[in-house]
Amino acid sequence: ASGPLARAESLIAVIPDYPSPGIQFRDITPLLADADAFRAVIDALIAPFAGTFDVVAGVEARGFLLAAAAAIAADTGVVPVRKAGKLPRPAAAVDYALEYGQATIEVHDDLPRGARVLLVDDVLATGGTLAAAHELFTAVGAEVTGTAVLLELEALGGREVLGRVERDIHTVFRA
Ligand code: PRP
Ligand code: MG
Repeated sequence: ASGPLARAESLIAVIPDYPSPGIQFRDITPLLADADAFRAVIDALIAPFAGTFDVVAGVEARGFLLAAAAAIAADTGVVPVRKAGKLPRPAAAVDYALEYGQATIEVHDDLPRGARVLLVDDVLATGGTLAAAHELFTAVGAEVTGTAVLLELEALGGREVLGRVERDIHTVFRA
């Protein structure tokens, strides 16, 4: 492959043994810092979902960078899914498992009923984060009409986990 998307993919750095031995960390910061690559991946993220969502949601923290840009490109607003304890008004909360321990994410309970949400994050690994985010929007009466992720780490099986709650999963790059 060639062109802006292939170039964008080449700007994802693979960092061995970070944050712990044996982990190959995918660092997307060089891609984000490049104007053409960033634009190309934002367009590719949202392309399959044109006209199917009212708002984009991003998961703290790295998902915020992509979700906000995707919302501007799609001419919608953006909704932050935050880690626990950061939102000032009534919010729904869902706990999920991390590799070690657990975490909680929250979203304000003020979307219009039936709002169509495009859920965005940077990486699909075990699928726990996005499955929890999906559950959150269901809890506040919204409808996740698609999930768009920059990079899917296929060996971790996240597609299968997320697939139990979400049918329409789009990933721009796979590793
Ligand atoms: C990373 C990544 C995804 C999630 C994927 O976020 O940004 O959100 O893990 O993993 P999963 O599919 O196994 O749930 P992390 O929680 O490390 O935090 P950050 O985005 O705040 O850096
Ligand atoms: Mg994250």
